[in-house]
Amino acid sequence: MRKSLIVANWKCNPTSLKKAESLFNSIKKGIKGFRGVEVVICPPFLYLPILIKPSSAHQKVVFGGQSCFWEGKGAFTGEVSPTMLKNLGCKYVIIGHSERRKYFYETETVINKKLKSALKNNLKPILCIDKIPQIKKALKGITKKEVRKITFAYEPIWAIGTGKTPTFDQAGKVNLSIKKLLGRKTVVLYGGSVNSKNAKGFISKSGFDGLLVGGASLKPREFVGIVKSVAEL
Ligand code: PGA
Repeated sequence: MRKSLIVANWKCNPTSLKKAESLFNSIKKGIKGFRGVEVVICPPFLYLPILIKPSSAHQKVVFGGQSCFWEGKGAFTGEVSPTMLKNLGCKYVIIGHSERRKYFYETETVINKKLKSALKNNLKPILCIDKIPQIKKALKGITKKEVRKITFAYEPIWAIGTGKTPTFDQAGKVNLSIKKLLGRKTVVLYGGSVNSKNAKGFISKSGFDGLLVGGASLKPREFVGIVKSVAEL
């Protein structure tokens, strides 16, 4: 059986390296021994090199960026490239999160460029979508073989950070539609107000292949609870 993927999106948190290290250490300790899950931590860029190092021997945890630029290097002030993330040891990169679309004006064209660049650099993109038609636009010009390397995250905007979630049945229908569109082996995650109580249902009842966790990934006990409930399946 394929491992469930649990992705922690720390967003713009926490506010100091000390707090980031403490959060990471609590998570790492808490999930020790759980099987059947791959945990991906996506901290702010500047904490990545510090957290990545001591954990390299800890196969349970891998790392991802929360976004990336589409060029590998050059005169692009303020940007972080997929080449840099790859060279640092990241395995994944989140692309097209609704907050990137809303606050940083990322369009489908931008998301498409970022996807292509992440794939070229052998990073596994986690493409976030709120509605199925976004998929087609984001995948323009990407080959079927490359599409298989992409993880999709269904994140209804109204569920992000609100405590509201779709029913397992509603979410499961979207999961099925994505799999119908791209193939039944497509890896699809659910994201939006995931907590230790509802996590299991999105996997066992809705049939998702994993979860994208925001707020709850900043609370070690809650996040460990999520991983535990999925690992027990
Ligand atoms: P949330 O965020 O778990 O806080 O709702 C999910 C996300 O934005 O990926």
